[in-house]
Amino acid sequence: MSSKLDKAREYEARKEEMIKEEQRPLFHLTPRCGWMNDPNGLSFYNGEYHLFYQYYPYETVWGPMHWGHAVSRDMITWKYLPAAMAPDTEYDGAGCFSGSAIETEDGKHLLVYTGVRKEQDENGDIREIQTQCVAVGDGVNYEKYAANPVITEDSLPEGAGRYDFRDPKVWKENGKYYMIVGNKTVDKDGQLLQYVSDDGFKWAYDKLVIKNNHRFGVMWECPDYFSLDGKQVLLTSPQDMLPEELEFHNGNGTLCIIGSFDAEGNFCEENCQAVDYGIDYYAPQTILTGDGRRVMIGWMQNWDTCGIRRDDFPWFGQMSFPREITIENNRLIQRPVREIENYYGKRISRQNVLISDTATLSSIEGRSIDMTVRLRSTGEDLSYRKFEIRFADNGKAYSTISYDPIENIVKIDRKHSGSRRAIVHQRRCKVAGKGGEITLRLVLDRFSCELFINDGEQAMSMGIFTDIKAEGISFKATGEAMLDVLMFELEKK
Ligand code: FRU
Repeated sequence: MSSKLDKAREYEARKEEMIKEEQRPLFHLTPRCGWMNDPNGLSFYNGEYHLFYQYYPYETVWGPMHWGHAVSRDMITWKYLPAAMAPDTEYDGAGCFSGSAIETEDGKHLLVYTGVRKEQDENGDIREIQTQCVAVGDGVNYEKYAANPVITEDSLPEGAGRYDFRDPKVWKENGKYYMIVGNKTVDKDGQLLQYVSDDGFKWAYDKLVIKNNHRFGVMWECPDYFSLDGKQVLLTSPQDMLPEELEFHNGNGTLCIIGSFDAEGNFCEENCQAVDYGIDYYAPQTILTGDGRRVMIGWMQNWDTCGIRRDDFPWFGQMSFPREITIENNRLIQRPVREIENYYGKRISRQNVLISDTATLSSIEGRSIDMTVRLRSTGEDLSYRKFEIRFADNGKAYSTISYDPIENIVKIDRKHSGSRRAIVHQRRCKVAGKGGEITLRLVLDRFSCELFINDGEQAMSMGIFTDIKAEGISFKATGEAMLDVLMFELEKK
C-alpha cells in the first residue's frame, strides 16, 4: 500500500472516533471525515452493496481526490471501510476522480475511474489531463493496474477535448464490458463516449452515444446508461446550465433523457427532464438490485451551494436516500427504497383534518421521519389558495414546503433554516394540476429534506443545517384544506 493511502486510512480511523453520532444523519451516508462529493462505484460484491465516494479526508473542502468506501446490506445502514484509493501515482497524482465498479468474471472487484495529472500546455498554463484507469481488489484492498491508464487521449474521436474526459460508468452486456464516459469537445460541447472491452482492462473506442448540441449546460459529468421499463435511460449532470422555466436551473444540474434504440442500436431521445427539482442533488449513480430494481443514489449537494455548512461539523457532503426509479408515461418516477419500512418506529395517522389557518397535530414532529400528507379541497371547488408545511421549526428557525394549487407550483424554502449565506435558499417546481389534490411525502433525516411529490412524479432535495432540536411541524392553509397525514418516526435498527 502506498504511504499516501496508509496515511489517509490511519487519519480517517482516528478522526471518525471524534465525530459524535448526533452530528451525523441517521441514514444518509456522510464521509468518514472531511469532504465528500459524488457517489462512485455503487455495486454489489461479496454479498454487500459497496458505495465509494469522492473524498478528501483532511479538510471539509474539496482537495486531491481519494475514494472513500462504505458497505451496506440494504443501502440504508452503512459501515465504513478504509479508504480504497489515494492519488498516489504519476497518472492520478492530481486526483482519483469519479467512476464505477463491477465484479469481474473471476470474482474480483474492478474499480474504473478517472486519473488526473497536471501538465503544462503550449501556452505554459497548467492543465489537468484526464485518463481512464482501473484498480482490482477484494472488496477492501485495491491494487491499481500496472498498465494504467487504460484509456488515454489517443483513443479520443475527432473533435473530442483532451482536458475534460471523465467519470466512466461500466456495465456488462453479452459477454463484453462497456463504459460510457463524459467529454467536452474542442468547441465546448458536452458529449458521451462509449468504450468496449473483452476483459475490463483492454479498452477500445466504440461510439458516440449522444451529443449535447449546446442545449443543456456545457460539460456533461457523471453519466449513467441503462434500460428500464422498456426504455433506454441516460442520466448525466451538466455543468454551467442556463435556466429553462422551472425545469432546469442555473449552474450544475441533473438531466434524465428517456429514449430507445433504433435498428442500428443508436440512442434516440424521446424526453428530457430534470432528475431532482430541488437545490441539492448531483451526479447520481444507479445499481440494478438482485430482485430487479433500479436504485439511484445522488450527492445531496450542489457545487454552487457548498457555502451552506456547519462550521462545527467535521464532515461535509452527504448522499441522498436510495431511490427506486421506474419509467411511467415516459417520465422518471422516484420513490425511497421500500427497505425504509424496516426502520419505521412509531406510526401516527390523522385522517380528514380540516386546516384553516395554522395547525399543529399532536405527535406530528421530528427530524427523522417519513411523512406523507394527502391534501384536497373541502368541496368541488378549490377551497384553498395556498398550503404550507413548516418543519425543523423551533420558533425561530424553520424550513417550508408550500403548494399553490392555482399555479400548480411546489416550493421548498430553507431561507430561515439558520443559513447566514447569500446562496440559493428556495426552489420552485411545476407539478401536475389535480384540482387541489396533491400528495407530499417528506423524508427528513436530521440535516436534509427529500420531498417526493404525487407518489414520486417529482423529487426535490435540500440540505438544512438547523439545530437538531428544532423538531416542530405545522400546517397552514389560506382558505380551507382537508388533509390526511401518515407519519413514521425513523429509527436506527
Ligand atoms: C462531479 C465531478 C466529476 C469529477 C469529480 C471530481 O461532481 O466534477 O466530474 O470526477 O466531481 O471530484
